[in-house]
Amino acid sequence: MHLLSKNLNHIKMASTKLMGPFTQLLPMTDLPLKGSLKDEQLSIITNGGILVSEGKVVKVGVFDDLKSAVTEIEHFEGNHVCIPGFIDAHTHICFGGSRANDFAMRNAGKSYLEIAKAGGGIWDTVTQTRKASSKGLVKGIMARSQKHLANGTTTLEVKSGYGLSVDEELKILRAIKEANEQTAQDLVPTCLAAHMKPKDWQGSAREYLDHIAHSLFPILQKEKLANRIDAFVEDSAFSSSGIAPYFEKARNSGFDLTVHADQFTTGGSEIAVRFEAVSADHLEASTTREIELLAKSNTVAVALPGASIGLGCGYAPARKLLDAGGVLAIASDHNPGSAPMGDLLTQATIMATFEKLSNTEILAALTFRAAKALNLSDRGMLKEGKLADFIIYPTDNYQEITYHQGQLKPLVVYKSGEKVFDSI
Ligand code: NIG
Ligand code: FE
Repeated sequence: MHLLSKNLNHIKMASTKLMGPFTQLLPMTDLPLKGSLKDEQLSIITNGGILVSEGKVVKVGVFDDLKSAVTEIEHFEGNHVCIPGFIDAHTHICFGGSRANDFAMRNAGKSYLEIAKAGGGIWDTVTQTRKASSKGLVKGIMARSQKHLANGTTTLEVKSGYGLSVDEELKILRAIKEANEQTAQDLVPTCLAAHMKPKDWQGSAREYLDHIAHSLFPILQKEKLANRIDAFVEDSAFSSSGIAPYFEKARNSGFDLTVHADQFTTGGSEIAVRFEAVSADHLEASTTREIELLAKSNTVAVALPGASIGLGCGYAPARKLLDAGGVLAIASDHNPGSAPMGDLLTQATIMATFEKLSNTEILAALTFRAAKALNLSDRGMLKEGKLADFIIYPTDNYQEITYHQGQLKPLVVYKSGEKVFDSI
């Protein structure tokens, strides 16, 4: 297995190169952003090729038709399926410590409150992360992001939220920025200072949020540390009414909003729709009312099956969301508490068996629909002008990718037209 860093990638960017032929090439274009998808709608190019220049797709088509246009060809002998790189729109991979004991306690029947009392829960990770050095945090992000890259994820959102003070949130977001310079994939940072009211904060939740908005938001913009603000809207974290003024300030300052919504109780998705958040994530507790609200909106519903598997609770109502006309993305929620596994394709394909998702719905949720959750229009499909981010699998049939539930691994992964992972 071979991983290349971003710094090594820009050596040969100028020429136009043809890659292929791929037994099947799935460009993931010409599919609707919203609603359910049937596999009959999926366009498959047989013996396809991709023309790449300066990190972007110039043209996608039949390999033999594109051959005359170029001198440089990267040939693929044998059977290969090519799909766009995965986009994981929700992770918390910057943290210190482990919460292995939470897992054991949960399975022994202990409640959220009992686990928190015994020193577990989010606050445990905050304590461990505050103790970690910046260098240690960068190292942790790098190790985790490289695993995601080897599984085909070329864009990875990373949240703060285990600092919960201005200085500690900055330490985390600066570590994410540094890791982004080192890793070949794109890391998209999000500020989750509203993960819970810190236990060492003397004032009210309202005062904490005001303090964050007043003291942290301007630095995020000045240092370009994040243009996305997230909040955990839940009984154990922040109420809908409590978070509204914070979101108002964030939106007025030009941030995109995203919400940890309806994980255990409802309320979060309603506030997400009200504030035109780019995404509402979790949704395990969403009812018909929330499903309809989301389906009518432009807010992307992000299911996090890794948290359902980690906690042993139900999945987000993905089937109903799609049938109601919503936009469904699927993300890993990779975090030390509820979702330590961090394997996006495995989780998505396990959820798909319970929620009855078509292959096209799964792949859309991991590519162009996930790009929408991050408000990124330059990726998620293979088409002229989009980033040349793609995965090549050693198979002749794209159905094998989902069928093996994450165990068919990429042969190679390309980011901006350059090979960034090679399994050989
Ligand atoms: O998305 N729900 C809130 N936050 C995380 C869990 C964080 C933790 O337990 O450390 C989540 O599941
Ligand atoms: Fe999360």
